[in-house]
Amino acid sequence: MNFTRERLEEILEWHGTRPEDYIETGTMYGATARMASPLFESVLTIELSLVIAEDAMRRLADLDNVRVVQGNSGVMLNTIAPGTPAVFYLDAHGCKEPGTAGQGQTALWGELEYLRTRIVEDLIIIDDVHAFGGGADGPNPFWADVTIDTVVGAVDGRGVCRFKVFGDQFAMSCRV
Ligand SMILES: C[S@@+](CC[C@H](N)C(=O)[O-])C[C@H]1O[C@@H](n2cnc3c(N)ncnc32)[C@H](O)[C@@H]1O
Repeated sequence: MNFTRERLEEILEWHGTRPEDYIETGTMYGATARMASPLFESVLTIELSLVIAEDAMRRLADLDNVRVVQGNSGVMLNTIAPGTPAVFYLDAHGCKEPGTAGQGQTALWGELEYLRTRIVEDLIIIDDVHAFGGGADGPNPFWADVTIDTVVGAVDGRGVCRFKVFGDQFAMSCRV
């Protein structure tokens, strides 16, 4: 929610380096993928809904460095993420927009399980801090078990040296 270019630049500055690759989970209309396009060599965005993924491919077709992939991000990241440092923007949450997929589920734990295994200097950004803990007015009441502690715990052992909340985004800066 409200993930702007200014916020992304702020988080990148805090991270201290700018990876070449940006990987987003949950594409929807492609707004964030488009926003990120000029900032990275490559933008990869994963969408569960076939209809939305195909629509996003059309919407983003003018951007040479953006690729839309259809699938479940919770199981696909490990096969398509580069082995080099990357920004991971995790936004594959069920939401109330018509046609979106994954309601009542969260891909987050599968995504973090994979991210825990990486040994490069990634920047992990999780959207929708307002829904952490399953706030009843948020789009994700099933996020009752999603908290800063559980999220940091899920990548325990991979070298998260710092984490910080930036408005509605939670960022984890990883070191080798
Ligand atoms: C909040 S929207 C994404 C908004 C988009 N990131 C943006 O900022 O423009 C969430 C999207 O995640 C998708 N989604 C839900 N579960 C998913 C999963 N397991 N894998 C990939 N996409 C998923 C939904 O269909 C929906 O399009």
